[in-house]
Amino acid sequence: MADSCRIVAEVFEGIRKNIEPGVTTKELDDFVEAFILSKSAKPAFKGYRGYPASVCTSVNEEVVHGIPSSRKLKNGDIISLDIGVFFKGFYGDAAVTLPVDGISAEAKKLISVTEQSLQAGIEKASAGNRLFDISAAVQQCVESQGFSVVRNFVGHGIGRNLHEEPQLPNFGKAGEGPRLVEGMTLAIEPMVNAGGWEVTVLEDGWTAVTSDRSLSAHFEHTVAITKNGYDVLTKL
Ligand code: MF3
Ligand code: CO
Repeated sequence: MADSCRIVAEVFEGIRKNIEPGVTTKELDDFVEAFILSKSAKPAFKGYRGYPASVCTSVNEEVVHGIPSSRKLKNGDIISLDIGVFFKGFYGDAAVTLPVDGISAEAKKLISVTEQSLQAGIEKASAGNRLFDISAAVQQCVESQGFSVVRNFVGHGIGRNLHEEPQLPNFGKAGEGPRLVEGMTLAIEPMVNAGGWEVTVLEDGWTAVTSDRSLSAHFEHTVAITKNGYDVLTKL
């Protein structure tokens, strides 16, 4: 898993310089796919339940699962990129939200709080804790800043399959849920809305947008529970 997750991290390192006004989300998909194939790995999302691309590109009010297209990024947009890799039998999965040039103060705060909430969740990912300790830490971080966590999409176990048990909501009660044990691998992925938590799936059957069309951000890491804490596998 460390190998597949390292490839995910490397794609993100490579793609940052491509995020600029005028680039299309399809061009980003081409970059991601070529990069993953060049590592003798496979894009995990392409063909998954019929998803047509190697990266999810979700812009502004799009929450997750945006499909790459001829849409051009413009100054002030925020874009969430979600990438999965399959390599030698194992999956890695991560996401980040990036600014396109100058963004609003609200967008900056949303991105920063979402990233902080992922970190808060990760810090609870150690053996002996309960699964929903992670959920509660994410929720507390987000809601204390006046934002909301999406409820109809969740994080997940990951390993030989992209999605494994357990489901990992971004809200819940500390002290509840299954006990975390060494060797578990989890995709922790807060999706955070500037407005209400409700989302709507568009007619393409994939793109989830905020129902109130407020901005949304998404950060994700694949994390291993170790003897003494955690290892963030999708970080270089
Ligand atoms: N990181 C997302 C997830 O874990 C991405 C899945 S996109 C899909 O569900 F296209 F593969 F469905
Ligand atoms: Co995921």
